Amino acid sequence: MPNGKLITFEGIDGSGKSTQAKILYERLLEEHHDCELFREPGGTPLGEQVRVILLNQPEKIGIIAELLLFSAARAELVRLVIEPMLERGCIVLLDRFTDSTTAYQGYGRGIDLELVKSVNDAATQGIKPDLTFLFDVTAEDGLRRHDRHHDRIEQEGVQFMEKVRQGYLTVAKGDPARVVVVDGGREVEDLTIEVWNKVEVLLTRNTLF
Ligand SMILES: Nc1ncnc2c1ncn2[C@@H]1O[C@H](COP(=O)(O)OP(=O)(O)O)[C@@H](O)[C@H]1O
Ligand SMILES: [Mg+2]
Repeated sequence: MPNGKLITFEGIDGSGKSTQAKILYERLLEEHHDCELFREPGGTPLGEQVRVILLNQPEKIGIIAELLLFSAARAELVRLVIEPMLERGCIVLLDRFTDSTTAYQGYGRGIDLELVKSVNDAATQGIKPDLTFLFDVTAEDGLRRHDRHHDRIEQEGVQFMEKVRQGYLTVAKGDPARVVVVDGGREVEDLTIEVWNKVEVLLTRNTLF
């Protein structure tokens, strides 16, 4: 029976996902866990190409094309990387996953949530995170932290980000056993401790049964 774990990091731009994902990844490696970290979109040749298209496109892509491009990249990541790694017992860390699509394309862009769910389900083929960290910061705080990057998505206004943020919080409310909402406005070190405590519980649960 495969005992890999899938842990995802979610939140609006600048919420601190990548910072915490990297810290956790390094700690797990230090403790000799079989562990991998990927960012979405990416992690496969197609995914990296989709990343370039989505983040550097000078002309606005239609919202459905955007939904399908993110999902095409995810389908490849699931098929080529996540499934085999979970099979071998790896702890897979993902910097963004399906909740990003629900929050950005669903709640942010306004695509029908049932359609978003169907596309997410098609891309993931039933794979669900064991644990999701939602780093919650205000849209203003997120954008302020993030203003050294200037790609297409991050130039969207505060109003859009606030919609995305509320979308994330709605997702978390609907799945409290999976999604841990973390106040991302706190110090990096405090957040690291909170993340580690939850991960330890998840990994301990795994060895006991
Ligand atoms: N808890 C924190 N408090 C203050 N600044 C932070 C915190 N976490 C991350 N940062 C800084 O905010 C910026 C965005 O963090 P990052 O982890 O890249 O966010 P995300 O991946 O969610 O966009 C980076 O410059 C990072 O160093
Ligand atoms: Mg990031």
